[in-house]
Amino acid sequence: MNRKYPHLCAPITLGRVVFRNRMFSAPMGGTDITADCCVGPRTPGFYELRAKGGAAAVTASELVVHPQTDASHMFHLDLHTPGSLSSWTFVADAIARHGAVPSVELSHSGQYAGTYLIDKDKKKGLTQYGPSDWVRPDGIPVKALTAGQIDDIVKAYGETAALAKRAGFQMVMVHGGHGWLVNQFLSPAFNHRTDEYGGSLENRLRFARRVLQSVRDAVGPGFPIEFRMSGAEFFEGGYDIEEGIRIAQGVEDLVDLIHVSAGSYQFGFFRTHLPMFAPHGDNVWLAAKIKKHVSKPVATIGALNDPEQMEEILASGKADVVEMARALLADPELPNKVVAGRDDEIVHCLRCFTCMAERPTTGTRRCTVNPLIGREIEGTEVLPAARKKRVVVVGGGVGGMKAALTAAQRGHTVILLEKTGELGGILKSEQALPFKYEMYRLGLTLARQMELAGVEVRLNTAATPELLEQLAPEALILATGSTPIVPNLPGIHGDNVVVVNNYYKEKDKVGDSVVVLGGGLAGCECAVHLGMEGKTVHLVEMRDQLAVDCNIRHRPILMQMVDKYTTVHLKHAGLRVTGEGLVCRDETGAEVLIPGKTVICAVGQRSNRADVDALRGCAPWVREIGDCVRVSNITNAVYQGYHAALDI
Ligand SMILES: Cc1cc2nc3c(=O)[nH]c(=O)nc-3n(C[C@H](O)[C@H](O)[C@H](O)COP(=O)(O)O)c2cc1C
Repeated sequence: MNRKYPHLCAPITLGRVVFRNRMFSAPMGGTDITADCCVGPRTPGFYELRAKGGAAAVTASELVVHPQTDASHMFHLDLHTPGSLSSWTFVADAIARHGAVPSVELSHSGQYAGTYLIDKDKKKGLTQYGPSDWVRPDGIPVKALTAGQIDDIVKAYGETAALAKRAGFQMVMVHGGHGWLVNQFLSPAFNHRTDEYGGSLENRLRFARRVLQSVRDAVGPGFPIEFRMSGAEFFEGGYDIEEGIRIAQGVEDLVDLIHVSAGSYQFGFFRTHLPMFAPHGDNVWLAAKIKKHVSKPVATIGALNDPEQMEEILASGKADVVEMARALLADPELPNKVVAGRDDEIVHCLRCFTCMAERPTTGTRRCTVNPLIGREIEGTEVLPAARKKRVVVVGGGVGGMKAALTAAQRGHTVILLEKTGELGGILKSEQALPFKYEMYRLGLTLARQMELAGVEVRLNTAATPELLEQLAPEALILATGSTPIVPNLPGIHGDNVVVVNNYYKEKDKVGDSVVVLGGGLAGCECAVHLGMEGKTVHLVEMRDQLAVDCNIRHRPILMQMVDKYTTVHLKHAGLRVTGEGLVCRDETGAEVLIPGKTVICAVGQRSNRADVDALRGCAPWVREIGDCVRVSNITNAVYQGYHAALDI
């Protein structure tokens, strides 16, 4: 069979192990960690999904090698608990039984130990070890590791690798990037030692080389070792790509795959986890440069999810392997779809950071577009229904589409009624913001998936009790969404006002100076977009904070963008719109004019309860989902849509 993406589908041999294609699942830590530092019962399923989805390698993470100097944070994984090897064996099995190579990331966070502690006060009592004595920007002192401690850590890498091999892992990844311990030794910014581990690059490389040698001695020849590094650190005082090249050259004799990521957690997630504001593949150039100077295969990573782009990266010789993290949460089946040429069915990652925000907030994993993530143990198959029913879904937004799709996949006969002429609901408005294109595309993908699953879509069809009586559904899902709130202010219905949801249709009306009324997520993102377009943007918010509805990982990045592109007016209440802009009351009670030719109204949404009230008596089984129940987000709409359909 001719593959649409031959390079992505080609096998690769590393050491003595053959990998079925070039798409690897990058490490993503499970959150399910028991009190005695073992992986919990939910973990095998978390990794298994990506093995089943066709990735060639799935890397489990983050196995702490030396808890005596590292695991100062509450939740970590190590192999020091007697009997803990079994839990890792289950993980390796779960990956290997689907034809993927199980790998495990060996890690030491060094001076970052304790980063994830929610109780920040507890951090103060911890001891953090790094290459050198210093005080972290958050006030936490770091102690320099002694030569004896370094010897112990090096030994621990080897011992842990040997145990991992015994558990059934067929590759190990040594984490040498993102600002963790190995990277801290490599970094001129953090390593100020004057012994044989500091100073020259040769000395800064010594720790990494000893670690890799220890792992190699433990696993033997032919067992692949992947070295994860940052191609450049991207902060002042850190190393640049030129030194990154020399680091790769300095370890290549000891490893089988050089995995080039970027950046350092010390300075946020902008580089390590490219946000929606950065282009896809923005770190590929680092791998491409390194690849020119080494003889070992090179992997690249960073917001990759488009088969055409990934195929080009391999075909043009920029890298030998592409790795994905978030893209494979969004759609674990991505590699299988690439192999089968079904790329129009790929559900793309939104880069919304829900996956990363859940860990520090609820200690779980979630993915906005994939309701299975973190809940795999509850079942990952959409099983056929015992009795096929007539199902009607009202509302063609994201929740309604997910419900209709899932119900159809279960074999039900599904009709979706949408009162407008287009599917997508609120996602339609995202098409005007290039950095939110993936959200718009989610609507298109769900529409395509519904088509393939046989859902009958009736556009321009309002659901009425009469119509429903005629259709006689046995199950009815109400997903009627929400409507933008337009505050009752003088001038708000003027020609110079655009409701944020309509911005995509009324872009041309927007002048070169804009006041955005409402600093929630939608208002902030629209304001950033307008600023990026070169407009003068004022962002007005009644409360004392912006985007309080935004998750804790996306928010800091969004705030950087807001600072860069807008002027913010907090504690300002809109009073009236005039031809000159928006008159507000500031916190002193004074009236001020915030100038702008156009006012964008982004003050939130209200549930469409009237539709629900009119229809909830129209079938023997009825479920309300998404915004019509309570205005929320895509994550909840998708989750509720999926589960409503499973309940039919
Ligand atoms: C939910 C989540 C958990 C992660 N956990 C780890 C980890 O334990 N170890 C690690 O080295 N990287 C971790 N990463 C970083 C990823 O491996 C990857 O470098 C990053 O997400 C960028 O790749 P992407 O753009 O394909 O998501 C994690 C990323 C995510 C999204």
